[in-house]
Amino acid sequence: MQIHVGVITISDRASKGLYDDLGGPALKEAAAGYGWKVLGEALVPDEKRDIQRAIRESINKGCNLVLTTGGTGVALRDVTPEAVREIAIRELPGFGEVMRMESMKITKNAILSRNLAAVVEKALVVCLPGKPSGAVECLGFVVGAIPHCVEVLQEVPTSC
Ligand code: MTE
Repeated sequence: MQIHVGVITISDRASKGLYDDLGGPALKEAAAGYGWKVLGEALVPDEKRDIQRAIRESINKGCNLVLTTGGTGVALRDVTPEAVREIAIRELPGFGEVMRMESMKITKNAILSRNLAAVVEKALVVCLPGKPSGAVECLGFVVGAIPHCVEVLQEVPTSC
C-alpha cells in the first residue's frame, strides 16, 4: 500500500526563523527515497498544543505515517514525547529501544534522546531527534517495520 507521510519539524528557533529548518527537508528526501508520498509538512515551536495540532492536521490530510524531528532531548523545552503520549492510543516501545541502541554506536549522546513511536488514531507517529543526520539515521534503523505497521493500522490484509 502507498504510505502517505506528514513531516513535522519541532523547534522553537527554526519556527521563529532564527535558523533554517534542515530536519524537515532531510526527512522529506529520505521518505521519498523509501517510495513514500509526502502529503504535508509543518514547522512548529516546542509547545505541546502546537505539536498535537500538527499531528492531527497531518492525519486529517490523509497521512498514515507522521514523522517528527526535534524536541526529544533533555532540554526543559523538549516536550515532543509528552505531547505525543497525551494523544496516543498506544506506544510501540521497540522503536525507541532500537533507535537508541543503534544510535549509541554513533554518538554517546544518543542515550539522551527520548525517541519513540506511537499510534494516534490510525496513524503511526515516529518521533526522531532534531539533528537532521540523526533523524535520517534513526528512521533508517526502524524503517523495516514501518510498512507492515502502517498496513496493520489501516486494516489492510497482510500475510503475518
Ligand atoms: N541519534 C543519532 N542516530 N544521531 C545523532 O546525531 N543526536 C543525539 C540524539 N540522538 C543523535 C541521535 C543528540 S545530540 C541529542 S541531544 C538527542 O538525540 C535529542 O535530540 P533532540 O532534542 O534534538 O530531539
